[in-house]
Amino acid sequence: MELPTALRQAVDSALANQPIERLTQASERLSNRYRKEVRDGAFHIDDDLAAKAYLATRLPATFAAVRAALGMVEDLAPGFSPASLIDVGAGPGTALWAAADCWPSLAKATMLEASPAIRSVGEALSRPLGFPCDWRAADLLKPFPTLQPAELVTLAYVLDEIEGTAIVDVTRRLWALTSSMIVIIEPGTPAGWRRILAVRQALMDQGAHLVAPCPHAAPCPIVSPDWCHFSRRVARSRTHRLAKQGEVPWEDEKYIFIAASRDKIEPPAARVLAPPRLASGVARLKLCRSDGSAAEVTVSRRHGDAFREARRLDWGDITSIMGTDSDEKEKG
Ligand SMILES: C[S@@+](CC[C@H](N)C(=O)[O-])C[C@H]1O[C@@H](n2cnc3c(N)ncnc32)[C@H](O)[C@@H]1O
Repeated sequence: MELPTALRQAVDSALANQPIERLTQASERLSNRYRKEVRDGAFHIDDDLAAKAYLATRLPATFAAVRAALGMVEDLAPGFSPASLIDVGAGPGTALWAAADCWPSLAKATMLEASPAIRSVGEALSRPLGFPCDWRAADLLKPFPTLQPAELVTLAYVLDEIEGTAIVDVTRRLWALTSSMIVIIEPGTPAGWRRILAVRQALMDQGAHLVAPCPHAAPCPIVSPDWCHFSRRVARSRTHRLAKQGEVPWEDEKYIFIAASRDKIEPPAARVLAPPRLASGVARLKLCRSDGSAAEVTVSRRHGDAFREARRLDWGDITSIMGTDSDEKEKG
């Protein structure tokens, strides 16, 4: 996935004249803090250089993950076309750009962010969007400023920066700001998945209807050490490669999310939870199914249309294929 042209140009001009050695050092420091989930009271992005390092090395990947998650919401709720957004822990405005790319109906946004350094970078970046974006200083762990609820509320890659004990309360307060759809995204690690499970339960306890990725509201059928996540391939720019000291022109960003709505949305029969494995005449699909189960099912040529559908499926897709008991390799 590539960044939208206007965002790529805004990022390129923000990074122009940044010495690459300083970006590389700041990127290393940032990725160490993320990897170790450091919580020492300081923001990971606490100065302009760290903000620029985030633009160079993380924004393309978090954009790709958020955009993919929003795309899955769009697939299931084609009538949803939000005019208003509240994005919390906005960083450089990644979710704002992804939402604007997904829903051209977007006409205003309120961006809440605690770190002044990334807030000012995000505010400058968002100018080309051409609709009002109100950037405010706000700490997710304290009462929010008085706000009108928005049709879309997003929180992307933020929960891993706060204590796990705060997740339920934060989810409830974000849901109270949601007039239609909420989408919360996390890194696709086992810990990210567990945080999303806590959000999922908190949203259902508030009466929210799950939209994606789960095709049911039953307990998650995935059992640790397995975990639910998806992946999106991201093109690396030259600056990105230099700052990360990597040669490969792409990276795979793993992510997990939960989307829930005030309206009930018809669930798909199933969602594909891993890259399909194709061999001659056979497709093996790991599915999460609307009956609350997960299973690896085998679809072969003798299944006709189902086989033709299976061959086109990708990790994360919804499908009408459920499989039958005799087709299953394992049950979750
Ligand atoms: C990993 S960045 C994600 C930024 C953006 N949402 C994205 O997906 O690229 C996490 C952001 O959350 C912000 N943040 C962390 N703790 C916060 C808090 N308690 N209140 C508000 N923002 C917070 C950080 O300053 C940072 O900008």
